[in-house]
This record gives sequence, C-alpha cells and structure tokens, in this order.
Amino acid sequence: MKYIIFALGFAISLNATNIKTNNDLSWSTPKRGTYKYVPIKVQKKYTLKGSKIFLSMKEINNQFNAPEWFKTKIKMPNIVKYGKAPKVWACASCHLSSGMGHPESARLAGLTSQYLQAQLRAFATKKRIDYSGHMNEMAANLTKAEIKEASDWFGALTPHKEYKVIESARVPKTIIDDSRMRIKVEYSNKKNNKAGLEDIKNRVIEIPKNIATVKLRSPNAGFIAYVKPGSIKAGELKATLCKACHGVNLKGTTIAPNIAGLSPMYVIRQLHGFKNKTRAGVNADKNSMMSGLSKSLSDDDIYNLAAFVATLNP
Ligand code: HEC
Ligand code: HEC
Repeated sequence: MKYIIFALGFAISLNATNIKTNNDLSWSTPKRGTYKYVPIKVQKKYTLKGSKIFLSMKEINNQFNAPEWFKTKIKMPNIVKYGKAPKVWACASCHLSSGMGHPESARLAGLTSQYLQAQLRAFATKKRIDYSGHMNEMAANLTKAEIKEASDWFGALTPHKEYKVIESARVPKTIIDDSRMRIKVEYSNKKNNKAGLEDIKNRVIEIPKNIATVKLRSPNAGFIAYVKPGSIKAGELKATLCKACHGVNLKGTTIAPNIAGLSPMYVIRQLHGFKNKTRAGVNADKNSMMSGLSKSLSDDDIYNLAAFVATLNP
C-alpha cells in the first residue's frame, strides 16, 4: 500500500515539473509592433465626451504627463501623473486615470493598496517578471514612499465592467501595433490591409470596442474579447476551485485579490507565470497558494478560466 502511494506521489510530482506549455502563447505577451494607429479623423486637438480638456495626440502619448480627462475624486499623485524621468513613466499613461489599464498592461482598480505594494516590491526584486520589462525597471526605481502613494491612490479606485466576451471560431483580422495593442488591420497605417475574418486558433483576441476613444487613453476603456466556442461554460465549471480564496463572485477576499472581469490575456499571463515560476509573490505563503494550484491546471483549463473570469462584473 505504502509503495503504491509513493509511486503515485512520484508520478504526480514528475508530471508537475514536466508540464510545459504546448501551445504558442506569444499572442498573450505581445511584442511592440511597427504598425501605427491612424485616427479615423485626424485632428489637431482631441477631446472626450463630457471633458473640458483638448489635447494633441503627442500630448496624449506623453509618457511623463498622463492625460487626466476628468477630475478624479482624490487628487492624482505626481508619480501617477508625471512619473519620474527618465526611467519611471507616468503610471496613468498605461494604467489610465481610472486604473482600468489595457489588455497589454493590467487593471489596478479594485485591488487593495497592500496587494499593489506587494506586487511592486516583487517586480523590483524580480520575483515577478513582467513580460514587457517595464514594471521590473520602473518598480526598481521607486522609493518606498512613492510605492505607497501610488498604491494608496490606485487602491481607492472602483473598477467597471470592461469586457464583452464573444465565443466565435472566426475573428476579425488583427495586428499588434506600436503600443502592443491588438487592433483591427484596417486601423493600421499599412497599405493593403483589408478587413476580413480568420481562425481564432488557440488565441483570445482582444480589441477595443471603440478604438477612437481607447487610443485617446480614455479612462472608460472597453474591449471585446473573442474566445473559443464552449470555453466560457468549461471555465465556469473549473472556477469552483477558485472561490474558496477569491470569493464566490471572484471579487476578492482578505486572502486573495479581485479577479472578476479581468482581461483574459492578463489572466492567462498570470496563470502561466505562477506555473512557470516567473511570477512569485513577496509573501512566500501567499505565493505558494497560486503556484501549487496552477500546476494542476492544463493549458485548456487556463484558457477556459480566463474566458469565464472576463465575463464577470468586477
Ligand atoms: C509602459 C506601461 C506601464 C507603465 C507606465 C506602468 N505600468 Fe504597471 N504594468 C504594466 C504592465 C505591462 C504590467 C504587467 C502585465 C503582466 O504581468 O502581465 C503592469 C502591472 C502592474 C501591477 C500589477 C497588477 C496586478 O494586478 O498584479 C502594478 C501594481 C503596477 N503595474 C503598478 C504600476 C505603477 C505604480 C506605475 C507607476 C509608477 C506603473 N505600474 C506604470 C505596464 C505599465
Ligand atoms: C488557496 C487560495 C487560492 C485559490 C484556491 C486560488 N487563488 Fe488565485 N490567488 C491567490 C492569492 C493569494 C493571490 C495573490 C498572489 C500574490 O500575492 O501574488 C492570487 C492571485 C491570482 C491571480 C493574479 C491576480 C492579479 O491581479 O494579478 C489570478 C489571475 C488568480 N489568482 C486566478 C485564480 C484562479 C483562476 C483560480 C481557480 C482556478 C485561483 N486563482 C484559485 C489565492 C488563491
């Protein structure tokens, strides 16, 4: 009897360390492309509905002065608005003044200051590797006070539902642009890029609902996520595993963060990160919770979980 249990344990642990990803996941860690988004209507200055501010595209994309289209409840700290040249870009430039971020970055709204601070420490010490490299470099250049200030501010923001998830085997033809965002081919400066459909393959295709406002770094970003047919239901079944820690609606508990409504691409990056040990937390106990569990998840499980999680209200 002892023998069998030992043999079984050995087989499981061998299996766990040998798990490698068979699928090509490069679509979830997008490399900066050379394509540029060309506004449908080129203007000198742009604005958003309800805002009193007018900014040029150059001003909107200024890494050291993030657009603040609407007054925020609590004043944006300097580190969030301006960053710290030359190494630390304005946090709100990528994560937006709403903390909602884009699929190629991360949503910070809806997380606690403590959790955010822990992640920044993990980036700084490279216990967590950001595929883009940005967070590792920037976090290492932040003071303890700046980490706290930015985390307190983002931690006070309320997230909104950002994703419309559509199951479909055929998806619009897309490319990755120079901001790592996936956009429909017809919005790129490349000539002869005709709109059309292609197979989804093993990817999640996330594109802006309204590219014109998303490209202005609107705080109310909205995205469509195309996922494989059947994935949402399969993910829902698997997600019973997650509720003990992330809560019944996956909106977070004192143990684990709010994951409801996150970008599927982001969730896929994190689950593979836990599994492949490129994402370790600064708290050994917390970190081991996800790394242990993620080993039992197959590539398909991870895909389906991500599809389901995105449908939830944060
Ligand atoms: C150039 C774009 C960019 C800028 C500027 C930026 N970030 Fe990030 N941030 C990212 C990316 C990319 C990720 C990680 C994505 C991943 O792990 O898949 C991320 C992730 C994070 C996370 C982890 C979120 C989570 O749910 O675990 C925190 C916290 C964070 N950033 C804080 C900040 C702060 C604070 C600043 C300003 C000092 C900042 N970021 C500036 C791109 C950026
Ligand atoms: C035993 C408790 C536990 C269970 C069960 C659990 N998690 Fe987690 N999860 C955590 C903790 C703790 C963290 C934060 C880790 C850290 O501090 O980096 C986390 C983090 C995450 C993150 C990263 C969030 C972010 O903002 O970056 C994702 C995604 C996630 N979990 C998904 C899942 C899914 C999907 C399941 C179910 C299959 C699951 N978790 C089950 C404890 C758990």
